[in-house]
Amino acid sequence: MSTSASGSAVSSPSTLSAASPGPKTADWPASWQVLSHGIRSGRYTDPDFARLEYQRLWSKVWQSAARIDEIPEPGDYTTYDICDQSVVIVRVDADTIKAYHNVCPHRGTALSAGGCGHFPGGKIICPFHGWRWDLAGRNEFVLERHEFRDGKLQDSDVALREVKLAVFAGFIFISLDPNPQPFDDYIAPVREMVENLAIGEMRHYWWKAIPIPANWKVAQEAFFEGYHVPATHPQLEPHSANFIYQPKADAKPDFSHWNVDYEVYPKGHGRFFGKKTPMKGDVKSVPGVDAVEAMAARLNLLAEGMDAQVLAEDVEVVRSLKGKPIPEGSNLGAEYVKALYARAAQQQRPMPKPTLENLGMWGGEVFIFPNLLILPQSGNAMIYRSRPDGFNPDRCIFEIFSTKTYPAAVKPPRAEVQKVTDVSDPEQVLLIPRQDLGNIPRMQKGLHSKGCKQIWLASHNEKIILNMHQELDRYLAD
Ligand code: FES
Ligand SMILES: [Fe+2]
Repeated sequence: MSTSASGSAVSSPSTLSAASPGPKTADWPASWQVLSHGIRSGRYTDPDFARLEYQRLWSKVWQSAARIDEIPEPGDYTTYDICDQSVVIVRVDADTIKAYHNVCPHRGTALSAGGCGHFPGGKIICPFHGWRWDLAGRNEFVLERHEFRDGKLQDSDVALREVKLAVFAGFIFISLDPNPQPFDDYIAPVREMVENLAIGEMRHYWWKAIPIPANWKVAQEAFFEGYHVPATHPQLEPHSANFIYQPKADAKPDFSHWNVDYEVYPKGHGRFFGKKTPMKGDVKSVPGVDAVEAMAARLNLLAEGMDAQVLAEDVEVVRSLKGKPIPEGSNLGAEYVKALYARAAQQQRPMPKPTLENLGMWGGEVFIFPNLLILPQSGNAMIYRSRPDGFNPDRCIFEIFSTKTYPAAVKPPRAEVQKVTDVSDPEQVLLIPRQDLGNIPRMQKGLHSKGCKQIWLASHNEKIILNMHQELDRYLAD
């Protein structure tokens, strides 16, 4: 059992019964079962399981459909597609956002062709016969109105059909269920944690959508732990990578995931975080190597390898410490944090409070069920979202959002997606996500193998995966 100041932890999944299955899941095929120590492979590959997810998960669950910076101005819209459903999300005014089923009540034309755009003059006009609505979804014009319903057409017959939404931490969540569980209940286990990280103050830096030949769960589960880092990202942990790739009997491993703690929460959420914070310093001194340069080089691997979490300007902050004495009782990590906060104050840039709890989340992750991952750092965060591409269990859309806070004098750009066409192209996907995304189709291929009935999960390092599947079954068994 683990607890934290900001969320109520639940028992380790290894002590929970196998998926708390209930009568319905017990009747399911063996290939769909969640075990106490692993996951059966059909959950990732069976089209019938994907259908069930559509009916009972995606048609009901709260899900992140947009960031607010996709629609900064009144009349701006963005489109969110999930399986065969499409939702258009509109900024009505500075304080009001609405979501509608993306359909004209006349003959069904989608009101948005997809993506982001703007409804000029604050009017939504169907391109087929010109019916018109205001941004609040009220119909203003039906051509030859008297011809419909014997001239007794009601405004309610032709109003746009609203979809439930909630705005939280800069995300616009929607639910396709007309009577969803209260959003506050759903988000409660991670609300305070995410609010403390100032994710709601962060705005678009870049956003990429990547079609991947893998199940949406396979894609996101590649990011649920730090256990993969030495093998997948050897440049980040060369010593530990050597232990894996060039085993020597006398080598002493020093894996960074030993320093990672995992917590799982009700509603399927979870997080991982470092047991040491940057305030304690995580830079080992190496004789003959300048400590500032060593730290800058390490952070530069993240800046150049992801252009997220750590940015090039943060590496410059490290370099600015060169030659400066470190006060008694402090260390380089703590001085770096102080310098970051001093720069942010000077730029009037919002930052999360530098509490030990928040600093411990740098390099960690908050997972919001079913498919949203937030990886915070100082005044910026990388966000992942994974969702099915239609009904094919072997395809998903995986998105990466790099967000940051902006100086008070700078207006953030409107969020705009870049569609990645070749995941192996270093111009389109930087090294670290390219390494992760390289594994994902290989996992999907292996899950189809007759040699793979189930996957095994580590009880500590992979507990977020198990907790996610257990919550998924609560939806699917409903
Ligand atoms: S389908 Fe939209 S106005 Fe006819
Ligand atoms: Fe990774």
